[in-house]
Amino acid sequence: MKNIKVIIFDAYGTLFDVNSAAEKCKNKIGDKWEPFANYWRTIQLEYTWLRSLMNRHEDFWKITEESLDKSMKVFQIDILMKNELLDLYRVLSTFPEVKETLKKLKAKKYKLVILSNGTPSLLKELVSSNNLDNIFDDVMSVEEVKIYKPHPNVYNIPVKKYQFEKNQFAYLSANTWDVSAAGNFGFNSVWVNRNKNIFDNLDYKPTIEIKNLSYLNNLI
Ligand code: LAC
Repeated sequence: MKNIKVIIFDAYGTLFDVNSAAEKCKNKIGDKWEPFANYWRTIQLEYTWLRSLMNRHEDFWKITEESLDKSMKVFQIDILMKNELLDLYRVLSTFPEVKETLKKLKAKKYKLVILSNGTPSLLKELVSSNNLDNIFDDVMSVEEVKIYKPHPNVYNIPVKKYQFEKNQFAYLSANTWDVSAAGNFGFNSVWVNRNKNIFDNLDYKPTIEIKNLSYLNNLI
């Protein structure tokens, strides 16, 4: 990738480990913590897509709570755990290599941006609870356009702000569908494939696939 000016990161699942909330409760939830966490994430994303198609936008926190309600019923998890899980979701941990990688990229003077489904206040709390306050030039939320990824209006938020050509942006996500959408939009998309997953068939294949964010330092 050449002439990259701005590096955009997806937040949930790419910088921050969405399963870390349920994992921190695994003593109480038991072995089903991981299928439960995966189910919660799946329903949460489905609700973002469905609400966008239905033209009934609600913010990501409401969707996170409503998808949790359903998931707790499906997995028969004590309703008394709801607030604990939600509180932990506000302060999800980063993946292990994230902080070091961001600091190195920052030192190379790239503009570093988050573009996420999360609300501005959720993203602010995630960034500050992980001591990343001085890293990002911008933290951008779909709340600006009131529709969720993968709608192109979302990927256009940083283009409108920075006024660079689309190929001067690198877009990183661990979510395959998000990589397809950002690539179709015109960004240089990088798939962060931590778990040896299979890519989607959505009119785009990433030219670059990396095992975790640290490999980015060799690419740009
Ligand atoms: C986000 C979702 C896709 O952070 O995880 O936008």
